[in-house]
Parts: sequence; C-alpha cells; structure tokens
Amino acid sequence: MIIAIVTLGTAKAFAQPLNITPLPKQVEMRAEPATFRLPSKYTIATQGSMDSRTMEDVKRFMEQMQLSTGCRGKLKDGAKCDILLTVDPSFEEEGYQLKVEPRQVTLRFATAAGCYYGLQSLRKMMPGHVVLGKPGPKKADYSIPCLTITDAPRFGYRGFMLDVSRHFFPVDDIKHVLDIMAVYKMNRFHWHLTDDQGWRIEIKKYPKLTEIGSVSEDMLMNDETRTKYWYGKPYGPFFYTQEDVRDIVQYAAERHIEIIPEVDMPGHMMAAIAAYPEFSCHPDRTYKVWKENPGLSVDILNVSNPKAVQFARDVVEELCQMFPGPEIHIGGDECPIMQWENSDACKAMKEQLALPTFRALQSWFIGEMAKVAAAHGKGLFAWNESITSEGSDLAPLQQAGVKIMCWVGAQAAARKATSHGLTSIITPIGPYYINRKQWNSEDEPFAAGPGNDSLSVTYNYEPVPETDITPQMASLYKGVQATFWTEFVATRSYLEYLMLPRLLAVAEAGWTPKEKKNFPDFVRRFNADRELLDAGGYNYGKHYIYK
Ligand code: ACM
Repeated sequence: MIIAIVTLGTAKAFAQPLNITPLPKQVEMRAEPATFRLPSKYTIATQGSMDSRTMEDVKRFMEQMQLSTGCRGKLKDGAKCDILLTVDPSFEEEGYQLKVEPRQVTLRFATAAGCYYGLQSLRKMMPGHVVLGKPGPKKADYSIPCLTITDAPRFGYRGFMLDVSRHFFPVDDIKHVLDIMAVYKMNRFHWHLTDDQGWRIEIKKYPKLTEIGSVSEDMLMNDETRTKYWYGKPYGPFFYTQEDVRDIVQYAAERHIEIIPEVDMPGHMMAAIAAYPEFSCHPDRTYKVWKENPGLSVDILNVSNPKAVQFARDVVEELCQMFPGPEIHIGGDECPIMQWENSDACKAMKEQLALPTFRALQSWFIGEMAKVAAAHGKGLFAWNESITSEGSDLAPLQQAGVKIMCWVGAQAAARKATSHGLTSIITPIGPYYINRKQWNSEDEPFAAGPGNDSLSVTYNYEPVPETDITPQMASLYKGVQATFWTEFVATRSYLEYLMLPRLLAVAEAGWTPKEKKNFPDFVRRFNADRELLDAGGYNYGKHYIYK
C-alpha cells in the first residue's frame, strides 16, 4: 500500500520543477525519481546537542504542520524516525543540508537558524498554505521530491525596510510583511519609525512624542485606486505602544528576523520638534507634524543644546531596552544644516570641539548616539550621507564602527565606507527602492519614479563590484536590503502591490550565489508562487505573470 502511494507521488512531484526561492546553493535530484510522503503520524528525532531555541522552532514546526496538513509529529529518541535532525558544527552559521529520501528526511545544521531555514525549504516544496502555516486539507498527499539541498546564504544581512511614518501600518500589516519575509529567508526588518510626518513609537520618557507627534491635522494619501486624496480628518494618533513592539519583536524572532528600529535624527524630525519645540534651533516657533507628502524639513535638532542631545540619548536608550537585536539605526540621511550654520551656539560648539565644518557636528552627534548603543552592547547603523555629505568627519563613525546603509550613489558610498573599514549594506535608490513604480504604462497607479524600476532591473542588480575593490573591502559588503518609503503608499494593499514580487528578487540577491541566478527561472518560480501569495492574501504586481 505504502509503495503504491510512493509511486503515485513520484509522477506528480516530478511533473513540476523545483520551486524554492531564494534558489539554494546546490540541489541534487536523485537519479531514481521518488518522493517522501509526510505520514499522518510522523516522528522527529534529534542527534547532537540541540539548543532550546532549535527545540522551540521544531515544536512550532510540528504545530504548524498539524494545523496545515493534519499530520501529527512526535519527538522520539534514536535515529529510526521520519525526520532526523542532526547538529553538525561544521556547517556555516545559517547553512543546512536537507536530504529527502523515500523513507526519511535528514536535516543537518550547526545553528537554530540553519535548522529553521532547512525546515523552511522542506515546507517550500509543499502547497502555499503549508508554507504559510495556515489551515488546509487534512487528508491530502503532502509529498516532496527526493533530493539533497546543500545550502547557505551569500550574505548574513537580507533586509527589508518599511517606513511607517509617512503612513502608518498596524501591527497585523507588519506581521503580514514578516510572514512573507520569512518565506523568502529574509532576516532583518528595518523599521523606519519616525520622520517629519509622524513619530510612531511610544517613548515613556517623552510622552508628547506620540501624544502630539503621532497626529497630523490631515494627511495626503495615495493608493492604487485613487491618486492623491486627503484623509479629510486628523491622521492619528497612530503609533506602536511598547506592548505592540514586544509583540512584533517576538513574532519576528520566531521567524529568525531581527528588528532594526530607526529613529531618524538629526533631520527628518518635524514630528518630534512639533512635540518638543525646545529641542529645535528656533524654540520660540510653533511647529506642526507634516501632513504633506513628500518633503524634507529644514527644521532639525539643535545639537548645540545639551538638553536636545540628552533627549536623543534618552530615546536611543529606550530603543536599546525595547529591541533585543544587535543593532539600532539613527537615520542621518538628508539633513539640511542651514540652521546650524546660522546659529551662534552651533558656531561656538564647532569651535569648542575644533571641528572643521558644520557637517562634522552631525558626525559628532552620530558618534554620541553610537556610545549609547555601545553601552548596551549594540552597533549603530546610519544612512550613507553620514559619510558622504560634504564636510562629514569619518573619525567618530570609524571609532564606533558605525555601519553604513548605502542608498544614494550607493556604490560610491559603499566604496568609501569599505575603504575606511566600515561595513556596508547595499540598498540603492532605484533597483532596491521597491516603493517606486514598477512598470512604465499609463494605467499604472501613481508612485515614485518613472516606472523603470521593474522586477528585472531589481533582479539583475549586482550589489558587490566585480573589480577594483580589495578582498578586505569585499568582505565588508555584508548584505542587501529592499527599502520601502510610504509617501505615496497609504494602504496595505498598495504596499504589497509594489513590494511583491520585487522583494523576492532582493531576497534572492541576498541568498543565492550570483553565478546561480537566472531571471527566467526566477520568474517561473514567482509564477508558481502565485498560489502561495494568493493563499496568504497578498496583493502583488502582475507584470511578469505568464499569459
Ligand atoms: C533615504 O532614502 N532618504 C534614506
């Protein structure tokens, strides 16, 4: 009886080519095609010293498999089992080997992350509802092809940034994003929490940040059904409580995603300054949270005011307490410094610190924030203007080992960063700014850009220069990130329409060896993943869907 089922499964599984995105490093199909069918009662055994984190993940895997397939897993001792998990310290940090044979699946890995990604690959060969851990048919044939996958990511940092300031996305929307990131083995969620249009995170020491800073008197909206319309009433209060943050941090951690929270300073701070005008360069003025999109305010933090700097330190301190991950982000992009140049107090500070330029005040400020993060054992990220703006001073950033997120002139910025020993993450405006219009046609909804940042452009972008960098510099290109600004994106549906499928292209850039990448095959896998995206209720761009 069992043999008959295996044989039946064989033909079906081999009718379709493998559908795992990001494409693994190495896949060997068996010479004799066959399948493994998940039994309705299956056993999992472990070998080697499995840590508690791995065991939690394995239990969650069994719970989700039961919900999705009705198949019940049980842990047992000894190697005679359906799924054998083996700790093997010789594997890379996030690497694994998944061997599927007709009667047993074996998974080898060194770390909890390796085990998790191996199980993700196993699930990715099943229907979409199983991949997503959603309920589905209970008596179906959950078979996967026999093969051996030997896998590890190209980069340790595979990120997605979401701006929740320009428009706010509730906890459930964030979880929906984290779910799809996990399917595609992305491991960093960079959360852009503050900007001119809204302060979106509760800071206990400064309650007005959210009482005042999370509400604008109106808001310019945009989505795929209507171009630019006014909300027509106060937008907010919209922010995440510290309770929400804990919930999201936990949800992300279960998916092996670290959160990198960003508070953008010392520019892009209108929402904070509206709440605490005393920290601006003109404390006598009144300020409003911005309702216009896009835009960039000249009103910035007054770094010559010790109370303003202490405010920034206190905010970073609370972030470090709230977020357990190894890094936080201080922003540092697009900061016009006219107000510093026209301020006697800033002039005096520049002289006192013997700084060559006013811009170096920003470098000093970033160095101060890095000290707060370091006191919590954390590193600091900043946008590339922190080293590429004219007059910036690299010394405080080098001292603190600040990591550079390269977006504008991304490659030149990364060269500068890595030639000075600083780590870079590549997220170029254009190919990796996946809030931009993805297709150049009349009926495309309004978004940033002319419409030439298509899936193919995103996919074919190579993040690391192929010549003219030293091996030492090359080793500092630590990863890639898809970045999503929401000036023109006010709804979950429109967010997903622009984000998908380009997020998958960046996920593959982050994971798959560059010599294995192949756009037509990627498009084929994306087409196969429509079933998954539909099962998860995701909206996505249809431009590369086969007719
Ligand atoms: C940015 O796009 N301003 C980082």
